[in-house]
Amino acid sequence: MPSEPNLTWHRTAVTPEMRAMLSEQRPLTLWFTGLSAAGKSTLAFSLENLLVTNRIHCCVLDGDNIRHGLCRDLGFDGQSRTENIRRVAEVARLMNDAGLVVMAAFISPYRRDRELARSIIGGERFHEVHVSAPLYVCESRDPKGLYKKARRGELSGFTGVDDPYEVPDCPDVYLDTSRTPLPDCLERLAGLITARLN
Ligand code: ADX
Repeated sequence: MPSEPNLTWHRTAVTPEMRAMLSEQRPLTLWFTGLSAAGKSTLAFSLENLLVTNRIHCCVLDGDNIRHGLCRDLGFDGQSRTENIRRVAEVARLMNDAGLVVMAAFISPYRRDRELARSIIGGERFHEVHVSAPLYVCESRDPKGLYKKARRGELSGFTGVDDPYEVPDCPDVYLDTSRTPLPDCLERLAGLITARLN
């Protein structure tokens, strides 16, 4: 509810149950967190492809993509990362309200920001997926060359190098992409979604 006295919240008569009946699915958000190059985007977009093939309405919110538009004004200091996650969580909530399954792929390195996302989206809908790989594996993948830049001192505040990543204490799903092949990771996530949708 708005704390601003000159704003009024307008209610809709359309309930989540009515939307669920219409779309024959229940919305949820899979929140992928992990180091850069751990595999968050690869998993989220592969899962999107699989879900759409199975006629499930869904959408990916991806860190790099969102920072080209909605969050293009934000940097990577602590406050900006918090604002990034807050905005994205609000968007995920709206998409869930509209009936979509959402895959949000963000480093989201701070526990308190992920908890903020959970509280905005709602504990029933929010599922935390820790996409894990050892730092040295992420560095050896380095698809965008950013770890190299950070090690050379050309990029400061890079997560895992000179900015912290706070490991989730109790994620709903833990995937180690250095050990588990992509199809197996996908199968686990698809299983979770199918169990939750029906
Ligand atoms: S978050 O920390 O605010 O959640 P987000 O997921 O949106 O980050 O964006 C991460 C992406 O931004 C990385 O995959 C990488 O391509 C790029 N990036 C650029 N600078 C940094 C940095 N200092 N730390 C982490 N990622 C960075």
